[in-house]
Amino acid sequence: MKQKKTKDTITENIVWHNTVVTHEARAKLKNQKPVLLWFTGLSGSGKSTIANAVESKLLSLRKFSYLLDGDNVRHGLNKDLGFSDDDRVENIRRIGEVAKLFVDSGQIVLTAFISPFASDREQVKNLFEEGQFLEVYIDTPIEVCEQRDPKGLYKKARAGEIKNFTGVGSEYQPPLDPDIHIKTLGITIEECAAMIIAVLVDRKYI
Ligand code: ADX
Repeated sequence: MKQKKTKDTITENIVWHNTVVTHEARAKLKNQKPVLLWFTGLSGSGKSTIANAVESKLLSLRKFSYLLDGDNVRHGLNKDLGFSDDDRVENIRRIGEVAKLFVDSGQIVLTAFISPFASDREQVKNLFEEGQFLEVYIDTPIEVCEQRDPKGLYKKARAGEIKNFTGVGSEYQPPLDPDIHIKTLGITIEECAAMIIAVLVDRKYI
């Protein structure tokens, strides 16, 4: 009889294969210490905009980076996922695994996802070695995000057209002890990005 493939039988028969080209060699070639910058914050807080600005600065410093952005990844890899609690958990789990591959390849990885649940962010952190994961809290008050409402989604959520919108019908758990805490009120995107770059320089990632 054909054996039913359970989760256990699948992983039992798979052995990790070490690559000939190592993580260290890839990082050395790129002249940088690979790291994941995990941006978290409300919709409209500025995660993507600031992450883009950081990436531009990294490029001009001739550093190698890649940005994984919520709205974009949800068009492809995660297009089967919605915004229920379970789907958000799976969204973040997959991104964590993809980011891990990118970090292994020697890149400085930036991810911009709301990632509302502290436990999911913790689980991603646990995938990485010490110092390879930095939580970046883009801290913008919900009233400001709602006032900006760049995609008109808060308006829809308040009108009851989006059931579980973060900050309205679904919880956002802010990081209690982020590695980088950016309070965006009163400062420009450029200044936010410069603060993050300064941390990378200070901690010798670049
Ligand atoms: S997460 O909660 O699973 O981390 P993610 O960052 O991938 O969310 O996607 C958030 C983006 O999807 C928002 O910026 C917004 O444009 C859009 N979106 C659509 N529906 C929702 C919703 N119910 N809650 C939050 N964002 C939503």
